[in-house]
Amino acid sequence: MSEVSLVVNGRKVSGAVEDRTLLVHFLREHLGLTGTHVGCDTSQCGACVVHVDGKAMKSCSMLAVQASGSTVTTIEGLANGADLHPVQAAFKEHHGLQCGFCTPGMIMTATDMIRRHPEGLDEATVRAELEGNICRCTGYHNIVKAILAASKTMSKASKSKAKK
Ligand code: FES
Ligand code: FES
Repeated sequence: MSEVSLVVNGRKVSGAVEDRTLLVHFLREHLGLTGTHVGCDTSQCGACVVHVDGKAMKSCSMLAVQASGSTVTTIEGLANGADLHPVQAAFKEHHGLQCGFCTPGMIMTATDMIRRHPEGLDEATVRAELEGNICRCTGYHNIVKAILAASKTMSKASKSKAKK
C-alpha cells in the first residue's frame, strides 16, 4: 500500500491505495467521483479523461501513486456552482450527447483542446484531436459543433477580458 495525497476539484484528499490502483479507480471508488467513466480495458475510449495539472489525461492509464502531488480536475469540478462551464453549456445547447456515457471524457478533452488553441479551432483540428475519444451514439457531428461553439465563446470572453 502507498499513501497518496493530491488536490481534486480544489479539495485536498489523501488515502492509502494499493500500488496497482489506477487513478480512475481512486477517483470513482475512494472519492465517489463517478462522473469519470470507464468504457474500455485498452486505453482507447477516452471516457475516463480528467485534467492532471491542467492537461487532459486518460485516468485509466495512470496509477494513483503517479498522480500523488498533482492537481486533478474531474467533470464534477468544471462548473462554477450552478453555472455550467462554457463547454458543458455548448454540449447542452448543440445536443452534443445522447446516452451521455462518453460525455465527461469528451468535455474534459474539449476544454484542454480549447485551452491549447486560444486562437480558435477549425473542424478538422477538432476531429483530429478527438481521435482518443470514442462515441457510439452521436456520429460526432453535434459534438464537433459544440466544441467549435465553445471555442468561439471562450476566445471572445478572453479577448474582452484582455481589453479591460
Ligand atoms: Fe477507456 Fe480510459 S476507460 S480510455
Ligand atoms: Fe453515447 Fe457518446 S453519447 S457514447
